[in-house]
Amino acid sequence: MPARSEDLLARDTSIRFDDANSVQAWVDQLEPGNNDWESAVLLGMYAELHYGHQRTQAQQLFDRFLDGSTPISRALDLGCGVGRSSVELTIRFGSDVVGLDSWPLALRFAEAAAHHPEVYVPRLEASNRLTVASIAIAHADPADRVRWVCANVHQPPLEAGVYDLVVALNLFDTVANPSLALGQASALLRPGGQLLIAQPDAWSPQATPANSWLSSESDDWQQLLDAYNLKTVDSEDGFAWTLQRTRRTSFNYVSHARLMELRPQA
Ligand SMILES: C[S@@+](CC[C@H](N)C(=O)[O-])C[C@H]1O[C@@H](n2cnc3c(N)ncnc32)[C@H](O)[C@@H]1O
Repeated sequence: MPARSEDLLARDTSIRFDDANSVQAWVDQLEPGNNDWESAVLLGMYAELHYGHQRTQAQQLFDRFLDGSTPISRALDLGCGVGRSSVELTIRFGSDVVGLDSWPLALRFAEAAAHHPEVYVPRLEASNRLTVASIAIAHADPADRVRWVCANVHQPPLEAGVYDLVVALNLFDTVANPSLALGQASALLRPGGQLLIAQPDAWSPQATPANSWLSSESDDWQQLLDAYNLKTVDSEDGFAWTLQRTRRTSFNYVSHARLMELRPQA
């Protein structure tokens, strides 16, 4: 899993993702290999993965697990990154959606992509040079139905007990305390609300202490689910998730997915 640049959390930026010149000016002043450069590479990878017009992993998961039979008026996308999955929720279900992530740059990109027909991102060429790529946005403008919140999933500044659906895609194996993060996700659901998670179990000691790693194939999750009043409704393995770093190199993951429901309190 590529590293996330923690020191970007508090930093402001004037980059305009709907303006090629603005993105070019940003890219031109990045020093290859440092944290800002790596963050720009990461942003470009996520943007091209999610807005590149192939059927995304989120779309496959929503097709597989969310049939729309239960109304989803409020949804929350934890670790939404560049926000394509948040937008997909509002397009599919007409939901008011909160997209939460601790990476401000990704949220600024998400906001630009939600409102502009064309956006620009850094692209790492195979020669290790950064250029600027344009992405035509294919989906309808979700207007203002998605609210972007920059926060830590361990302490989400959101109203508890009100969300019909919480999704957390490829998030839990990147956080410091997956148990706490799951507890917070559970606390945000209304009774009977659903939680959809997927992750490739790509744990790293840089992100998560090794004694907190969980395996999707063992009972690890079950113990936590019981603690947080969640019951598994459905699960399936084998959802490919591929981050293309350059035309010649990529990170290939396979995520395990699980749909849960918050049991009503006795
Ligand atoms: C591996 S990416 C997955 C992004 C997207 N959900 C997807 O499936 O492509 C993990 C995301 O979680 C975010 N993240 C990691 N730790 C977080 C935390 N403690 N609080 C909020 N967001 C976090 C990262 O910034 C990143 O956008």
